[in-house]
Amino acid sequence: MMSATVTIHHDQPIGTVSPRLYGHFAEHLGRCCYDGLFVGKDSSVPNIGGFRKDIVEALRAMPTPLLRWPGGCYADHYHWKDGIGPDRPVRLGMSCGLQVLDTNELGTDEFLALCELIGAEPYLAGNVGSGTPEELCHWVEYCNAALPTTLVQERQRNGREDPWKVKLWGIGNENWGCGGNYDAESYALEYRRYSLMVQHVDPSIEMVVCGHDTDWNRRCIDKLRNHMNFVDHYSIHRYWIHGGHGVDFTEDEYYALLDEADATEDFIVETRAFLEEACGGKRHVGIALDEWGVWHAESRNWGPGGCASSSNDYSQACTMRDAVATAVGLEVFHRQCRSLSMANLAQITNVLHAPIMTEGDAMWLTPTYYALQMHKCHIGQTAVGTAVKDGPKQPSGKAAVSATATQRGVTITNRHLHESTDVVVSGSYTDGTILSAHAPNAQNSAAASPIAPKPLTMQAEGDGVRIHLPPFSIATLTV
Ligand code: AHR
Repeated sequence: MMSATVTIHHDQPIGTVSPRLYGHFAEHLGRCCYDGLFVGKDSSVPNIGGFRKDIVEALRAMPTPLLRWPGGCYADHYHWKDGIGPDRPVRLGMSCGLQVLDTNELGTDEFLALCELIGAEPYLAGNVGSGTPEELCHWVEYCNAALPTTLVQERQRNGREDPWKVKLWGIGNENWGCGGNYDAESYALEYRRYSLMVQHVDPSIEMVVCGHDTDWNRRCIDKLRNHMNFVDHYSIHRYWIHGGHGVDFTEDEYYALLDEADATEDFIVETRAFLEEACGGKRHVGIALDEWGVWHAESRNWGPGGCASSSNDYSQACTMRDAVATAVGLEVFHRQCRSLSMANLAQITNVLHAPIMTEGDAMWLTPTYYALQMHKCHIGQTAVGTAVKDGPKQPSGKAAVSATATQRGVTITNRHLHESTDVVVSGSYTDGTILSAHAPNAQNSAAASPIAPKPLTMQAEGDGVRIHLPPFSIATLTV
């Protein structure tokens, strides 16, 4: 097999890789928040204000520039006043068909304090489905106002003197479904009402519209066309669901999942065209891919092969294949960094495509955690063009080697399920790391974490370096 070559075109800048493209999502679903991120102040598990200390450290190191909360579908049942102050009611927590006892121990001030602790920008999802514009206005006032209103004084009594200055506010979540079963036009009208009222409270906030599929997006954006000055971000969600079971998947399913990750780009491009047409060049609305990731068959009872059991808690295997899919997704996000204004992996702990898992006292990092961390050098940098030549091909005929680069380095993925390859990469590099595993369905666990980045061997060759990539592996070379 002829080596692949990767050429970095520093003279072809694409745009800035915003830290917001490396965002995350924490929903009150399964064991993501309670018994995951948050164990409570009285837990025997070491914690900071109720948040697991080991997770706080892992989130800082990943890093976690942006964190969305409290849902997801949970957001449209969530009443924020239940989660502040000393007396918190126990409610029915509801999301995605799960019903749990919700103590509200983790509320607004706790979440925003976590964000400060880990260096994340908060993104709060408002309740449209079972809430009111007034409730959302009050939430914005509680978080962001400086004048000594009754709500602001309440915030101060709860320990926060200065405004939290939360910039990002979602106006509902998936309002085409769990967020109220709206049709596109009715939701757009609600958006116009909510966004106007909320913006009166704090004109500096950025608001996010709920998008969906092609038909919804065309109709919703059309209904908003004379109100685009109230639209900062337009949300779309993309779950990759054609990969079969998390661990027991076929070769076809392996490639189908990666193709689906790639195809996210077409959906971004299509959504961008609708927004451009509606804005007529007068405004740039960012696309917020505020839920993305793999969603395997065993954790859902919808979509291809969906076979979740009645005890589904939305946790799933997080394997090396998922890390490769992550790298493929991040290539798309870098290529589309002028269109995308944020991206949030679903979800941060224990649920779906999680970078962090816990079981009792134990905490471990999944291959996806490391795939994300290996992209740290790109955050805030300028994405540039790359070109791949030769090397192994996927069954579809597409090159198996792919890459994304910024001024600070290049990340290269060998998507092939069986073939390893040498890659000659243009440029000179000081460091390199590689993430690989003995099998595509290998995963870390509470007992052992064999999948972690290792030093990459680089040999100088011509005006670049030669590296070796095993099948389903990811390497980052940094300048
Ligand atoms: O991430 C799980 C669920 O997926 C979210 O609650 C919802 O927004 C989406 O359907």
